[in-house]
Amino acid sequence: MNQGVSDLDRVVDRVDRRVRPDADERTRLKAVADRLVDRARAALADHDVDADADVVRVGSTARDTWLAGDRDIDVFVRFPADLPRTDLERLGLAVGHAVLPDGHEEYAEHPYVRGTVDSFDVDLVPCYDVDAATAARSAVDRTPFHTAWLDGRINDLTADVRVAKQFLSAMGAYGSDLRTRGFSGYLTELLVLEHGGFSGLVAAAAEWHPPVQYDPEGHGTATFDDPLVVVDPTDPERNVAAVCAAEQVARLQHHARDLLAAPRVAAFFIDDPTPLSAADVRDHVTRRGTEPVAVVFDAPDIVDDQLYPQLRRSLGGVWAALDRAGFAPLRAATFANGRGVLFVECATGEVARVERHEGPPVAVADHAQGFLDAHHDADYGPFLDGDRYVVERSREYTTPVDLLRSDALFDVALGARVEEALRDEYTVLSGAAVAALADEFGVALARYFEPTI
Ligand code: UTP
Ligand code: MN
Repeated sequence: MNQGVSDLDRVVDRVDRRVRPDADERTRLKAVADRLVDRARAALADHDVDADADVVRVGSTARDTWLAGDRDIDVFVRFPADLPRTDLERLGLAVGHAVLPDGHEEYAEHPYVRGTVDSFDVDLVPCYDVDAATAARSAVDRTPFHTAWLDGRINDLTADVRVAKQFLSAMGAYGSDLRTRGFSGYLTELLVLEHGGFSGLVAAAAEWHPPVQYDPEGHGTATFDDPLVVVDPTDPERNVAAVCAAEQVARLQHHARDLLAAPRVAAFFIDDPTPLSAADVRDHVTRRGTEPVAVVFDAPDIVDDQLYPQLRRSLGGVWAALDRAGFAPLRAATFANGRGVLFVECATGEVARVERHEGPPVAVADHAQGFLDAHHDADYGPFLDGDRYVVERSREYTTPVDLLRSDALFDVALGARVEEALRDEYTVLSGAAVAALADEFGVALARYFEPTI
């Protein structure tokens, strides 16, 4: 008899009771969803396309795998595959506005309408009625196939799916948005199904050696270059885990092992850290003896799925520039909340004006002449150090702040809209002065200065 497994089962049971929607929520959700579908059908009839188009519900609220209180109703309107895209967009929006009069337009691959009905978030999305997911004309065309494939397969595992989603959410690994780069709902369902439940998934993840590959329909196409591969059962060409970052895969592995070692409900409900105060930030900076620098600007007004990749790219560029300039970056993070922050903690706050630059050994004649020609007006040298030519030359920047306040900032690889925002205006904070960020980014700074897995 395995004591650990039965402990885990008890924990799973208690988590399930907390995240399972109650009868009241189910009833209200069903009433709203039915009403939305009826209204969408009526709107199609008003536009004389009711014979050719149909209305389907997709996503976790259609599959009974949503977390209590976290309710988005996804209603898709499927139009004939030969409908011109402009008509699809026009009709899709017309139906969307008819169903959700208070809704607003959002834009993914094509526009759709989002609104709130009786405290449920509703997306009304037009898509093409293609023959198979492989024939998708736009990414959303696959979505109804996911629901159809899971239907009849996931039904006995819905509690396990919810528990898995809750576990991933608690560790910050749930969601395929480009800020999180974690596990999508569909991916979570496929993994739970693959392992016959939550505890099976946890046991497997604890032993993973990425790359890890699953192929539920045996398509035999698992040739993706990703740490986690789940070949889409509805589309052999697609890895459902394509956006899942290696770090999120590693995070699940760590927490899976940790849960198996000590099963506990608390692992499923983790609060945000207490925000750091400005004084807390100053204490950390003093204790660490580092030179944090922060480039602060007005974040561009773009959706998070565009913003976060651009922030990461910009941060990578700034890191590389600080590294090349000798400031030994130690760790970095990017924050956004109306304002954007590129935060890099340097191990070195000031470097000498001169730096050493080594040339070739004297014996390598052809390289030698090139080096002497290139450095004939060096500040110091060329001279010999052992059998090599050496020069010492002046650095352009002796502190990270000098560099970041200069135009050199625009020589690094920046995200396009971040670059625009920086050209408009930015400020640079350094050392203990980064404590000024605590008012706006106290939680993010707590995650930074008190890092956990
Ligand atoms: P959602 O993001 O709402 O996910 O996308 P979900 O499965 O309903 O899970 P939760 O409970 O809300 O978090 C709705 C559907 O859109 C497709 C999937 O079929 C998903 O079920 N989708 C979404 C993708 O294929 N890929 C994605 O990255 C996101
Ligand atoms: Mn959903």
